[in-house]
Amino acid sequence: MRIARLTGFMGAEITGFDARTPPDLAGPLLRDALDRHLMIVLRGLHADRATQKRLSQVFGPLMRLPYVRPMDDDPDVIAVLKEADETGGGVFGGEWHSDFSFLENPPAGSLLNAVEVPDVGGDTVWANQVTAYASLPGDLRAAVDGRRAVHTGAPYGQRHAPPEDTRANASIRMTRGDPRADRETLHPAVLTDPASGQKALFVNPIYTTRLEGLTEAESAPILAALYRHATRPDFSCRLRWCAGDLAIWDNRRTLHYATNDYDGARRLLYRTTFAGTPPA
Ligand code: SIN
Repeated sequence: MRIARLTGFMGAEITGFDARTPPDLAGPLLRDALDRHLMIVLRGLHADRATQKRLSQVFGPLMRLPYVRPMDDDPDVIAVLKEADETGGGVFGGEWHSDFSFLENPPAGSLLNAVEVPDVGGDTVWANQVTAYASLPGDLRAAVDGRRAVHTGAPYGQRHAPPEDTRANASIRMTRGDPRADRETLHPAVLTDPASGQKALFVNPIYTTRLEGLTEAESAPILAALYRHATRPDFSCRLRWCAGDLAIWDNRRTLHYATNDYDGARRLLYRTTFAGTPPA
């Protein structure tokens, strides 16, 4: 097995990992790699869904999530699918975000298992929010230190999950009106990782609506400046997928973004999500 860093600030690719490695051996190794690199990709694994779920549980208990409908035969797995004929629209995860940050206990991490990918395009990009926080200019740091931010899934749900009978071209099935997605949840704008003590910026353009104590209008310019900084290419890692790759990321210390540049090609990845301790 070989591990190689992908950029200066985050991401590593692992080749030669044997999916049959027993969890008690694979666990410490993969957890350590994820902790160091925040996103790891196991190249050419071709894991079936049972193996993917077993690997997810090496990091934490599997989570079932509101408002994105899972696979009919497996409530632990979401099929992230865009068909070749779904053109001219958006794509699931096509804005910078942290998965389900509006939950009281947002996922600690997620796995994406590439089943079918375009010949070119459909990359996923992550950005390191520990580095983003550490390099925040003083005025922005003062705006977030000790402050909480409000997160909700409602605006995204309204935009991306119109009533089912009016929808076209949407392989991802989203439900509306789930109270766990629509209510407002407060999280510290800067999270402290329980194991490493690292501090990470924890706001994102999909689900964060404002900073506590400020209106949406007052928050908007501050959040816009935070997002510009947090998503700088310097802090990011772009993954070019091959079918069979399995990526694992820390959902509390990174943001990610699904690139939508492959209209006319089919892209299918299976996603699982694992839980951790509530954010602090
Ligand atoms: C996601 O946001 O989980 C999807 C990312 C991707 O499809 O690349």
